[in-house]
Amino acid sequence: MRKKSLLEAFKQTQYQISGHGRRNIQVLKEALLNIDGQQESDLYGKGKIIEEFQTKVAKFLGKESAVFFPSGTMAQQIALRIWCDEKGLNKVAYHPLSHLEIHEEDGLKKLHNIEPILLADKKRLIVMEDVMNMGKDVACLLLELPQREIGGQLPDYKTLESISTYCREHHIKLHLDGARLFEILPYYKKSAAEICSLFDSVYVSFYKGIGGIAGAILAGDETFTEESKIWKRRHGGDLISLYPYIISSNFYFDQRLNKMNEYYEDAKELANFFNQCQGISTNPLVPASNMFHVHFDMPKEKLESTLIAIYEKTGIGITSYVKETSVKSCYCEISIGDQYCIIPKDELRRLFEMLIK
Ligand SMILES: Cc1ncc(COP(=O)(O)O)c(C=O)c1O
Repeated sequence: MRKKSLLEAFKQTQYQISGHGRRNIQVLKEALLNIDGQQESDLYGKGKIIEEFQTKVAKFLGKESAVFFPSGTMAQQIALRIWCDEKGLNKVAYHPLSHLEIHEEDGLKKLHNIEPILLADKKRLIVMEDVMNMGKDVACLLLELPQREIGGQLPDYKTLESISTYCREHHIKLHLDGARLFEILPYYKKSAAEICSLFDSVYVSFYKGIGGIAGAILAGDETFTEESKIWKRRHGGDLISLYPYIISSNFYFDQRLNKMNEYYEDAKELANFFNQCQGISTNPLVPASNMFHVHFDMPKEKLESTLIAIYEKTGIGITSYVKETSVKSCYCEISIGDQYCIIPKDELRRLFEMLIK
């Protein structure tokens, strides 16, 4: 008989540690439940439905203006393009594990001919010295908060302030990849507007901690966002109607924004459980948001069969996939949402007893 895959076993679990639940059509149906069907749809970036949401998020981020995009990938390439054009310099700087560098098929280089300078090494955050010793002039520095590929680590707020001041003094635009900005507010104990005031442009996502279907906002001053609308059109991102994404973004934003502290506290509790197991550790040791990575001193295949057995016995799914780091080790990513607190504590304890064994 064919062996069950980790993904199959995960899908059959009653409870899942990560996320808000299954990403099925119900997510959209729920968001539409109380929406008046007579409401007019948005049309090529115009109309009440899109404009009101843009204004609401701009205000929340403390920015003059905001534009709704179908994806963060599109929004951020455009942001960097605008800053490069403004300075007449096709160079930007970001972390070597930035989303643009490793998940976008080189869109920035192929579509915009922009050269990235990679700061810091892969295992750590960008620090002030990296910025000061960059060696080359750049039009824009992009900071990703939290740095997802190293477990969602965060620099301290003083570092952010120093980098921001340095960039302003050196006429380098500072862009925030805030795919998980809402999720880090409890760590910094700052408002989104306070954090965003350090940056010239900001991107936020509505399908990560917020749990919508897809969608992003790019915010900044009005000259910048007006220019971004032109690029959105050029990229084919100016869909005739984006309302399914806007309505769900708005719905889940209202529903989950105030839960970020809960997710953060749950993440710290759960990371502590993992760290009590021999051969298992989290990165960072204490999470800085709702997300963290779990590293296992065990070959990927062995861990997968162990996890499948645990899922079948406890009905709790930890992860649907594991990534190899060496022949003897692997890791997975955890992002806490609404699902974690539903899991009965006794069942969770049983899961960790099994994991320890
Ligand atoms: C840090 C970061 N930046 C940007 C993106 C791009 O977002 P989108 O999937 O909307 O293109 C992601 C998506 O996972 C991300 O994690």
